Parts: sequence; structure tokens; C-alpha cells
Amino acid sequence: MNVEHQILIIFGASGDLTRRKLIPAIYDLFKRDLLPENYKVLGVSRTQISDSEFRNKVVHDNTYVGNGKASDGDKIEFAERLHYLTINTGELEGYETLKSKLRELNGDQKNNFVFYFSTPPILYGVISGNLAKVGLHSQTDGWKRLIIEKPFGYDLETALNLNSQLQQSFEENQIYRIDHYLGKETVQNLLVTRFANTIFEPLWNRNYIERIEITSAELVGVEKRGGYYDGSGAVRDMIQNHLLQLVAMVAMEPPTRINANSIRNEKLKLFHSLRKMTPEEIRTDVIRGQYMESTINGKTQLGYRDEEGVNVNSRTETFAAIKFYIDNWRWADVPFYIRTGKRMPTRVSEVVIYFKHNHHHLFKRKSLEEHQNILIFRIQPDEGILLKFGLKVPGAGFNVETVNMDFLYEELSDAYLPDAYERLILDCMQGDATLFARGDSTEASWAFIDPILKAWKNDDSIPIYGYPAGTWGPENLDSLIDGESGWRNPCKNLIKDGSYCEL
Ligand code: BG6
Repeated sequence: MNVEHQILIIFGASGDLTRRKLIPAIYDLFKRDLLPENYKVLGVSRTQISDSEFRNKVVHDNTYVGNGKASDGDKIEFAERLHYLTINTGELEGYETLKSKLRELNGDQKNNFVFYFSTPPILYGVISGNLAKVGLHSQTDGWKRLIIEKPFGYDLETALNLNSQLQQSFEENQIYRIDHYLGKETVQNLLVTRFANTIFEPLWNRNYIERIEITSAELVGVEKRGGYYDGSGAVRDMIQNHLLQLVAMVAMEPPTRINANSIRNEKLKLFHSLRKMTPEEIRTDVIRGQYMESTINGKTQLGYRDEEGVNVNSRTETFAAIKFYIDNWRWADVPFYIRTGKRMPTRVSEVVIYFKHNHHHLFKRKSLEEHQNILIFRIQPDEGILLKFGLKVPGAGFNVETVNMDFLYEELSDAYLPDAYERLILDCMQGDATLFARGDSTEASWAFIDPILKAWKNDDSIPIYGYPAGTWGPENLDSLIDGESGWRNPCKNLIKDGSYCEL
């Protein structure tokens, strides 16, 4: 693979994301020999540190690279590529210094630069404007790309503003809006499962599918991010971006080609087909919750309002579930259910496709729900696919039992599942924007979410329910789902699902 010469500039290099995700991802690319020969990383932030202090951290602080598994030799060799520049990214003054630092690092090679925005989002517009003011947007001497971290906007209006700020100085094809869920192997596989096989796609519509359920549950609470999270909440933090991207991968029409524009055109169409929720539907079809103190295995778990950085009277949701419809030919009247929450019983993300029942029941069955065909895409952990179908119980009569057919990624002996950031940074290095969100679709997904956030903000009578930390969310959650069966509450292990499972 040919990756052109380039430098990666990380704004917000002293932050948590750089330590936990970006440096480890670049290290993995280095280990897999995917970095170009003179590849360099320039960390930029206000924090006063030198090149060697930055390198020392990466080599000696195991939270940066390898979780203690990488050898010191490798880390030292890798760290030689790292540099640091202290400037105030919010002020124009430092950008001439940045420019000369890049000149010094780059010599007479092409000025191909990836600028990674990992600062507080309020600075995104300022940084792109400042880069342009000193000419660092110009592509005459080499290409320039921006990677923009989430959250992309706080609501529809701020997302529109941010897009127009960025687009004042950069072309849309230079802007890579990162959504790390798209970098997950299992999420990309949704497209392959659907469009590379003849057995699924003919059934993938309102004629055969009863409903679709998407869950992204987290075991952890807000941890040290209470300050950020309290101004955000589950809908902004997870649904507007990650979960709606999953919806698009599951529900979009086949793209004409596998390239950035074809795929992103189909996603945009899908987002435009999301049925706008009425105020009444927002009351009945959206459930929000907040975790409360509880005791798990004898250990007290803090309630959300007692977490550091969180307002003691906060009404920010740590859990949200939405029932909605997609108004198009394929999905008319098929309910989609999505939910996400912190402090749930286990960390698990999955997409569940419930197929309709036969029109005519030849065989006796205990209950309809028990014998439903279900296809489960396990995004994480225990990545894989599970199909549930009815089988004759051996012996007399025609009794039907549901059995599982499964595929687990871990069974692929030499499969390497790259971390999402590793995959996405490499894609951007190669100029492939397929797995990044395009400006128009971030606006379209905000347009769907905005009425919910506005209703919650303006109408205090819309309840927020408590749920004990470590449970599957508010008590009335199952009332969202039509019919008798409630949500599927998954186990940590994909195939060992059922009432008694490992959480
Ligand atoms: C991030 C959210 O985008 O995704 C976090 O800001 C969340 O709050 C995280 O914990 C979940 O990502 P993953 O890959 O662990 O499912």
C-alpha cells in the first residue's frame, strides 16, 4: 500500500483522547509498517512541554501505548517521530510559529498535512480560521486535511454554523468528521452481510422484517467526564452520531459503488427519510433515564447526580431509548428501536433484526415470541453474528425448538481487528473519506434529533426516570415495544444468551 509522505498535527495533544486513542492507533500503524518513511506527529497544545518530555511520556507511561505489552525498544524508536509545540490554539499569534515549525520538520518535502482537531469543540471554527489566515489551508504545495472529533455541534444550529465555518476555508473533501463507530470492523461488515449475500437482502424490507432494535449499552458511568457529559447527555453523546450511523448502515439502500460519495449519498437519503417526531410522539416514544445509586455485589455505585462535575439537580439523561419510523418504500411502518445508556449490566452493542412470523402455523409452538427468526449482529464484545431459527425436536411429533447458528470473529485464526481509530486515521492518510460523516448528513441527523432535545429543554413536564445503576434502564422501557416481547437484554457472550447469562 502506498501512503504518501505527510505530517499529522494534533491540536489538543495534552488531552485524554491523544493518550488513550490517537497515539496508540499511530503506534499500531507503526508496528504494522503502515507509516510512510518520514512520518512525523506534531502535538500542539497550550501545555508547556518539550519534544523530549512528550516522548518520555509515551515511552514510560503505559496508558499511552501497548498497555505494558509493547517493548521499550519499539516505543523509543516510535517516539523519535513525535514532536511538540506549545501555542495557544485559540489565538492567531501562534500559527506563524506553527507554520515555521512545520517547515523545519518537513524540509523540502511536500506539505501534506493532516490536522486533527481534538480540542474543546468551541475551538474548531477558530482553529480552521487561523490555519487559513496563515495559509495552512492552501493545497498548492501539498494536500491539507482536517479530522474533526465529535461532538460535531451541540444541536442543529451549531452544527450548521460549524459546517459553514469550516467550509469557509476548506473544501468539503478536505474535512473528515470522525465517528469511531464507523471504524469498527463489525459495523462495516453490516454492509458486506447485506450486499455481498443473496440470502439476506431479499428479506431486508417491510415484507419480512417486523422490527429492528439497536442497543449500545455501557457498563461504566460518566467516569471523569461529568463536566462534559452533564452538558451533553446520551442523545448528543451516542445517538445523534454513533447510533444513527448504525441505523444508516442497517437501513440504507445499496450504494451504486463502494466509494465515499455513493455510500454517503445513500446515508443522506436515509437520514432524510427519518420521520420527524411530533411533540406527542416525543412524549410517548422517547424514554429518558438517569442512573441512581445502587449496590452491586456489595459495592455501592454512585448515582449520576453524585458524580464529579455533575449538577446535583441535573436532568441530563444517561439513558435514552427512541422508537421511530423511516418513511420510505423499504421501511414503511417498520418500527426501529434504539437505546443507549451508561451503568447498564454489561458493555454490549448489537443490532437485532426480528423477522415476521409465518402467515400460517403448521406446528405447535409455546408462544409466538419464542419461535421468532432473529438475526443478531454483535458489534462488541464477542463480535459475531447469530441467527435463531426453529428446528424439529428429535423424536415423536413435530415440536419446534429455537436453535442458534453463529459465527464469531475470534474463530478467524489470523484475523487482526484493528482499533477503530487505527483504521480511520489510516483511511484519512490515504484520502479515503468513506467511513467519515459528510457535512450534509451530520445536519440531517441533527435535524431528526433536534425536536427531541428542544422538547426536553422547554417542557419540564416530560419525565426523566431513574434506574438503579447496573440495570437495563427505566422500568417502563418495555412499553415502547409493540406486542408482548420486550427488548432483548443481551449477555456478554453472544451465543450464551438467555435468562441466566454472564453479564
Ligand atoms: C464516545 C462517547 O463517543 O463513545 C462515550 O463520548 C462512550 O461516552 C464511547 O463511552 C463509547 O464507545 P465504545 O467504542 O466503547 O462503544
